[in-house]
Formats: sequence, C-alpha cells, structure tokens
Amino acid sequence: MNYKNIAVFASHGGSDLQAIIDGCKSGSINARVCVVISNNSTSMALQRAKKEGIPALHISTSTTATLAETTLEALTAHNADIIFLAGYLKKIPSEILVAYENRIFNIHPSLLPKYGGKGMHGINVHAAVIDAGETETGITIHRVTAEYDQGDILAQKKVPVHPTDTPETLAARVLQQEHIFLVEFLSKNP
Ligand code: GRF
Repeated sequence: MNYKNIAVFASHGGSDLQAIIDGCKSGSINARVCVVISNNSTSMALQRAKKEGIPALHISTSTTATLAETTLEALTAHNADIIFLAGYLKKIPSEILVAYENRIFNIHPSLLPKYGGKGMHGINVHAAVIDAGETETGITIHRVTAEYDQGDILAQKKVPVHPTDTPETLAARVLQQEHIFLVEFLSKNP
C-alpha cells in the first residue's frame, strides 16, 4: 500500500506517536502524520501534536453525538490514507472499520495472541507476563478489527524478560523497543 498521510489515534502519553512523528521528520518513514485524534482532552498525545504543528483533535462521545461520522469527516478533511492506533483505548466504530478496511493498524505490547484482549493494556499486560513467569515478551503490530487485539498479525518483535523485572521496568524496555520497531514497520510502507 502506498500511503502518504497517517492519522494517529492515541489516548495517553503519545511516546509512540512521537516516534512516528520523528521517523517522518528524519525521512525514515516516507509519509507524514496528518492528524492526531484523541478521546482524552488532556492527553500528552494532543500536546505533542500541537507542539509539532500537527492538527490535534479531541473527539469522544463527550464532544459529539455522532462519533463515527465526526471522526470520518476529520479523517477525510485531513486526507488520511491509514490510521495507526498508538495507545488508543477505545474500540473503533464499525463505520470506520469499513471505510478504512485493511488500513487500520495497532501496536500492542505483548506477543499476541498472548496477553491481549479486554483489560490487557498498559501495566496490566506486563504484570500478567511477569506473573506467568515468561522469559520473553514482545511487541505485535496487527490489523484492527471489531475485537480488541485481534486481526491479522503483521509483525512481531521479541523482548527479553529479566528475572529482576517489575512490571514497570519491563514496560519501559518494551516501550523503548516499540519506538524503534514502529519506525521500522512504517518505513516499509505496509
Ligand atoms: C504502548 O505500549 C502501545 O503498545 C500500547 O499503548 C502504549 C502507548 O504508549 N498500545 P504511549 O502512550 O505511546 O507512550
């Protein structure tokens, strides 16, 4: 797929978003972030986008009664070719799944299908990995469907779990690797 304009959806910190922006700026990714959409008005992701001069939109059920339509209008207005979910905690409405079929991607901080699904986000994922005694975990980039963390797996990268890890130290190691992996993935123009 040849795309130029990436819409990023993010709910919180936006460090993955920042990695995508930086990858575009350095030329590693041959595209640009055309709009950032967050369900959370106070997310760092929106602040990061504004700082970079990228349109930053707060769209949620508290801002619109027609979430799917409003989001689709914004995607069209900014000529989004693909949608990348970088820490976006809401389900994607079916209208958007249809309009962007095969063009919505998510990054998840485990080796799916392990440690995915409802409630498996943030520190919960890494705590579950440690509780299970895993010696390795990782990152998955997959297509987005109506169910959390399902859809075709497109790329995975392993990350070691150390015996001394806490959920926090493991989360930090995985997130750092995500920033590299994301750029590698998007630079291939999937
Ligand atoms: C990442 O761990 C990503 O895999 C998951 O949400 C986290 C986002 O981190 N989907 P950040 O908000 O980009 O720092």
